Amino acid sequence: MVERQSTGIDGLDAILEGGFPEGSTVILKGPPGVGKSTIANQFIHDGLDDGQAGLFIALDDAPDDVRESAADFGWTFSDFDDRFLFMDAYSWRLGEEVTGKYTIQGPSDLNQINMTLTDALREIGDDLDKRIVIDSISTLIIYTDTNSAVKFLQVVSAKAKAANGVLLMTVEEGVQDEETVSTVNYVADGVIEFEMDGDTRKLSVARMSKTSHSRDWHEFTIEDDGVELV
Ligand SMILES: Nc1ncnc2c1ncn2[C@@H]1O[C@H](COP(=O)(O)OP(=O)(O)OP(=O)(O)O)[C@@H](O)[C@H]1O
Ligand SMILES: [Mg+2]
Repeated sequence: MVERQSTGIDGLDAILEGGFPEGSTVILKGPPGVGKSTIANQFIHDGLDDGQAGLFIALDDAPDDVRESAADFGWTFSDFDDRFLFMDAYSWRLGEEVTGKYTIQGPSDLNQINMTLTDALREIGDDLDKRIVIDSISTLIIYTDTNSAVKFLQVVSAKAKAANGVLLMTVEEGVQDEETVSTVNYVADGVIEFEMDGDTRKLSVARMSKTSHSRDWHEFTIEDDGVELV
């Protein structure tokens, strides 16, 4: 039987036969503001709450801002400092010298991200199940190019698989051309698509390996304690 990791959202777990298959790389693709980062935070927190380890690779927001947004929903990452790691691939933008254990000098240096990831996974160790988030791939592609980003993602995905983790990556719709997006999709084992229809939010599981699922669209809302399927 395929081992699964809960998505952190009951309704989505039900659609996915219990959650994301262990070892899988899943893309969350949709328009700005639809809730991709919220779902990524919810997924990480759910794992931490369950005794797992989390690694958040932040390209779009400063780690402190990610922590604050998560805390708004009651998800306090600092409670889990012993098994939650942030990779700061954002603060270099401020133009000041950035320091810190898992700090990246710029997203164009994929080798550095790769080595830092290896260090972080080593620190977490083999014993714990792992949830890894890259928020967002779109930013990574903007600062590199599609081919380099895809090669990098294949390596990261293989590392997550080897560590039996689940890797979640967000993709902004409308930032990259469709060809780039489908090239990136090719790296993933699963793709969840999001849509905004006025104030209504919807998601559809476009693809998920090892899982029998429909491609129906499901409405969801963002409540005070996180994302819920309607
Ligand atoms: N406590 C809350 N209750 C309800 N909705 C909230 C709450 N906090 C944030 N939101 C909503 O969540 C949305 C932001 O979602 P999120 O940042 O996850 O989107 P995203 O898809 O990652 O967008 P982006 O492309 O900008 O990164 C906002 O539209 C905001 O209105
Ligand atoms: Mg976001």
